[in-house]
Amino acid sequence: MGYRYIGSKDKLTDIIISEIRRINKNSKIVIDLMAGTGLMSLALRENNFKVVANDVMTYSYHHLNLHLFLNKEPDFKNISSIINLVGPSSKKNNYDLIIEYLNNVKPIKGYFYNEFSPEGKPINSTKPRKYFTAKNAAKIDGIRKEIKVLNKKKLITELEHSLLLHDLIMASNDIANIAGTYGHYLSKFVKRSESPIVLYKSKFSSIGTTEGHQVFKGYAEEIASKLTGDICYIDPPYIKRQYAANYHILETLAREDEPEAIGESGLRPWRDQYSNFCSKVKIRDSFDKIITNINCQDFLISYSEDGLIPISDLISFLSNYGIVSKKNIEYKRFKSNNSNKDSTLHEYLIHLKKNY
Ligand SMILES: C[S@@+](CC[C@H](N)C(=O)[O-])C[C@H]1O[C@@H](n2cnc3c(N)ncnc32)[C@H](O)[C@@H]1O
Repeated sequence: MGYRYIGSKDKLTDIIISEIRRINKNSKIVIDLMAGTGLMSLALRENNFKVVANDVMTYSYHHLNLHLFLNKEPDFKNISSIINLVGPSSKKNNYDLIIEYLNNVKPIKGYFYNEFSPEGKPINSTKPRKYFTAKNAAKIDGIRKEIKVLNKKKLITELEHSLLLHDLIMASNDIANIAGTYGHYLSKFVKRSESPIVLYKSKFSSIGTTEGHQVFKGYAEEIASKLTGDICYIDPPYIKRQYAANYHILETLAREDEPEAIGESGLRPWRDQYSNFCSKVKIRDSFDKIITNINCQDFLISYSEDGLIPISDLISFLSNYGIVSKKNIEYKRFKSNNSNKDSTLHEYLIHLKKNY
């Protein structure tokens, strides 16, 4: 299944990058303020920009570490002490071995098994949840435990840690029993979710440098004053659905914790990652903090015709800060399995040149 992330700009990176170049052909540093999957940041790196990337979600932090700081498989040079390395003639490197090792760990009837599988006993609900089959959930528990141990014993570096969590997130996405997001699980296991979970090695882009980028995790409004760039690309949520609620399981994998799973859907307490961009009332105040405090003159903002505030209102609000223009792009809509909305979406790229 890969990554079905609401609002991912994976397919729009070329258009966005050509807009960035059109706005300022000399731009070198691009801020990707709400980076999500990190795929836009990767495309920026591959186009020779230095990237300052941020998102409020922890999983995004791990994806960004991989996409911006790795251009080849890391060495995993400290793992030999825990894994019986195959002889020197073996074609397998340490990354192959660690993935093989994690794929073969003993399943555990732990937090994921209890909270997210039909055989579990959730603490706050009488009804077991069906995000994963019992076998897959127990396997995820086993893999989580091993990654934690490796990290705690300092047998992996910070980047290797991010990479393994990224690989676990991608593997979990492949077999999750959901219709696109983790807002709820499906009542019956779909075929895909019955396959055993398998971690695969990530592929690494060798294009562009891995030097000079910065990755942050936090509210854009709060870190704005620390950021400097030639252009700030902002891809905010445009609907009411909170990312923290819709991707709660990925956040739990990324944070390696065991939060209280609340209600029938088993959401983690997510108010600490609530986004003002999902609220009609708060969105203007947040834009104001960002535009005022970031040290940057050009802002490029992605927004959709489906957005919480009409595009004309957004443009008239942004005009308070400088000169605004917009570009229309037709885009294939993110469709969860049970949505039958028209599949063409009008997406806008709004350029604000801030008055100083
Ligand atoms: C439309 S998605 C971005 C998708 C991204 N461009 C990609 O291609 O994957 C919006 C992102 O904004 C993040 N977000 C929402 N409010 C935020 C805030 N106040 N500060 C930082 N990130 C925020 C969400 O976590 C989500 O990842």
